[in-house]
Amino acid sequence: MTHARQHTIQVVAHRGASEDAPEHTLAAYVKAIEDGADALECDVRLTADGHLVCVHDRRVNRTSNGRGAVSALELADLAALDFGSRKDSHESPDWSDPEYTSVLTLERLLELVADAGRRVELAIETKHPTRWAGQVEERLVRLLRRFGLADPPTPAESAVRIMSFSPRSLHRVAAAVPTVPTVYLTQFVAPRLREGRLPAGARIAGPSIRIIRSHPAYVERLHEAGLQVHVWTVDTPEDVDLCIRLGVDAIITNRPKQVLSQLGRA
Ligand code: G3P
Ligand code: CA
Repeated sequence: MTHARQHTIQVVAHRGASEDAPEHTLAAYVKAIEDGADALECDVRLTADGHLVCVHDRRVNRTSNGRGAVSALELADLAALDFGSRKDSHESPDWSDPEYTSVLTLERLLELVADAGRRVELAIETKHPTRWAGQVEERLVRLLRRFGLADPPTPAESAVRIMSFSPRSLHRVAAAVPTVPTVYLTQFVAPRLREGRLPAGARIAGPSIRIIRSHPAYVERLHEAGLQVHVWTVDTPEDVDLCIRLGVDAIITNRPKQVLSQLGRA
């Protein structure tokens, strides 16, 4: 029998409020902050000239009007593209300023959060970091230092956390900024998850909702091991209900407004 813990479930806007605005754009993150999200999720990749940008896919083809791999393009190339042009299946607000739909750098996102006027946390995911042999983490840590986010007194007080499917990436981050929490993401059931343990350096478990649907007991096991559980990507009322019943610590969703409403917080 699983007992839900008495705590506030954090609502994390996945790629911004990406159900309502083009993913990973300033538009999506401004909307998420307006909707009341507790935290913002973003994926980061390195451009050919060494900038961290918020893009999920290896290529820009799906989310922009351009083509090519992020790693082969310079920031100026990316800045010439429209990342709002492919959001044709949903109604978007009228974001007439191109700044809202151009490529978003991690630096700009950090500025947005710093100017939010309330505490908004950031969950930053490193994408395919092994390819860059530590450069992604190095630049990420440099940016965190610049924004005063690299040395929280304790992990619980940190306003930022780093997520990855790559244990090596999490290890690099933990070695450089030990009090910034790291989240080990898993898409499929991993033996270590079953046993309630994470790779060295990881402090939080980040299982997919698919894992939690088929193995709900994992949440209690991970909690008993002293770990938090952040579940992605939770978009249906049924899945939100399941997360509430199990007492997960964070719900990562494309629909922060609806989830906050279901939690009775909007
Ligand atoms: O928040 C974790 C989740 O974003 C991982 O999957 O593919 O959406 O980056 P993906
Ligand atoms: Ca992600």
